[in-house]
Amino acid sequence: MAASAMGRIIFIMGVSGSGKSSVGKLLAQKCGIPFIDADDHHPVANIEKMSKGLPLNDSDREPWLDTLRSIAEEHKEGGCVIACSALKEDYRVRLTGSLASQVQWIYLKGSYELIYQRMQQRENHFMEAKMLQSQFDTLEEPKEAITINIKESPETIVNNIKSQIKRVMKAEIGVIGMGVMGRSLSRNLAGRGYKVGLYNRHVDDKEENIAKDFKANHNELSDSLAFDDLQSFVHALEVPRKIILMVNAGAAVDAVIEELGQVMSEGDIVVDGGNSHFEDTNSRIESMREGGFHFIGTGVSGGEEGALRGPSIMPSGNKEAYDKIQNYLETIAAKDSDGRPCCTYVGQRGSGHFVKMIHNGIEYAEMQLLGECYAVLKSQGLSNEEIATTFEAWMKEQGSYLLGITVDILRKKEGDGYVLDSILDKAANKGTGKWATAAIADSGEPATMIPAALFARYLSFFKDKRMVAAEVFSAGKAVDITAVQLKEAYQFSRIINHHQGFSLIARVSEQNNWKVNLSEIARIWTAGCIIKSDFMKELVPVLKVSSSILMDTKWQEQIKNTYASAQAVAVACLQAQLHAPCLIEAVNFFHGIKTADTSANLIQAQRDYFGAHTYKRRNDPSGKSYHTQW
Ligand code: 6PG
Repeated sequence: MAASAMGRIIFIMGVSGSGKSSVGKLLAQKCGIPFIDADDHHPVANIEKMSKGLPLNDSDREPWLDTLRSIAEEHKEGGCVIACSALKEDYRVRLTGSLASQVQWIYLKGSYELIYQRMQQRENHFMEAKMLQSQFDTLEEPKEAITINIKESPETIVNNIKSQIKRVMKAEIGVIGMGVMGRSLSRNLAGRGYKVGLYNRHVDDKEENIAKDFKANHNELSDSLAFDDLQSFVHALEVPRKIILMVNAGAAVDAVIEELGQVMSEGDIVVDGGNSHFEDTNSRIESMREGGFHFIGTGVSGGEEGALRGPSIMPSGNKEAYDKIQNYLETIAAKDSDGRPCCTYVGQRGSGHFVKMIHNGIEYAEMQLLGECYAVLKSQGLSNEEIATTFEAWMKEQGSYLLGITVDILRKKEGDGYVLDSILDKAANKGTGKWATAAIADSGEPATMIPAALFARYLSFFKDKRMVAAEVFSAGKAVDITAVQLKEAYQFSRIINHHQGFSLIARVSEQNNWKVNLSEIARIWTAGCIIKSDFMKELVPVLKVSSSILMDTKWQEQIKNTYASAQAVAVACLQAQLHAPCLIEAVNFFHGIKTADTSANLIQAQRDYFGAHTYKRRNDPSGKSYHTQW
């Protein structure tokens, strides 16, 4: 409810003595918004008049009502509760002015006898009990208000008001697309007290009443509004509308945006929470701006469970538009170990989707590393249970979500056998790893582990060829290393993987002037997302001072301590003919990055030889280009 009252001006009205102040105060407190008592804003003349037992007339009330309207206007962004008698319709019109659509009237209704009795018990109030009749004489009961019987306790009244407001109000936020992620995110929003609009398209005989059926199956969605007609959905949302798209990246996003453009109003905000390509987000922000709308591209990580209980959220785009949805996103996000939301404004344009894409790239390499460690241990004849026990021990030293789920996966049985053993060894992908690899190539950053992981997935798809080749060529053998060496090689490779991922974000952020705060990105990746880990927590302070993990002395020490094992594992994998592209690439990259003098001089010479591409000389700091007649 704290969230539901955001941006709403709630007027509690009724005759003097009906309990406006105590109910208003409690309601404001429960909603986390300011409380204003209209009695505190009467001009002195009015107070004096009332103290003398003289009732106020309309002109006495005018300056008072105008003051209150200005106060309401000051609170129109965040909302507030104002307790004010507002006895006549004219007064109420004067009070709300242009804010009418944001105002919710609550009328505290009670009998003369009950209120008189309560007023007798009040001390030091300028309105004496005998004035009550004049209040009832002036009162014009409101037609548009939620009417509340004041017989109950303030606590019960406030609870009653809260549920009634929720019932009559429009949806605060809408979700389009009731796929796995859309459903979880909608339940998350509703579970945190927001009134949510739900929409899923209608496709004859295929997708019918999806949103309504979904709502019917979940208690927390009882206040939600469900639609399969886009126009009705849009009209059921508060203005400016806030709509989260959870549809498949690509053409589906454009199709929904196109349709929304026909029915939305200027200033409405669309948030794309899917795994869209950041360049698509760049152009959508532009085209939506031309139509008068805001577009926020946001990465959402955590899978189905994360979206439901708290994902990691990476939004970007127009900052002012973001400010209007920040509360919603922060409320539903996972919380870090200090209780702060794992949601941060990443930067301008499509930077949020870029960062999410690199999150997925890091995820690919982390998954591949675990796959390779599993293969190494399997080559040594360890059972699934033994491999799970080994990984479980690693968890104690340096836990991660992906390592944890791998332990669960290794142990999962189906009858007598393991589920894992029955899964076909062809690793699919939805495209973010491919985009990340293309972005790496475009950026010039040597982030080599993500492509290695992607190509390992591609290679896995050539099952038929692999089976034929396995017949033709000699088989591999057990990888001759210890469990400790493997653990250290895994730790080494993870440092390199994270180093590459964050360096890549730093470089592309600089190229685009996004000013991405790397430490904040690491922080919002400490909970909610797929690559959350103990290591990620350690990176938060490191990335505050440097964009390069390898430049941090602590991690340099770690690299030195684990290198020998990483090298031994890479060599042993090659000797055993075990395909381990990420374990090997981590070592290989490390060799490259610590080589002061490489063979690139020869490449330059070759280029100049056949193409007169020129080269620079080591002893000429001016950077002048040279060409040799070879
Ligand atoms: C997340 C995941 C999520 C999803 C990917 C998987 O952060 O929640 O990364 O985005 O699991 O779609 O991608 P692939 O299908 O390409 O492995």
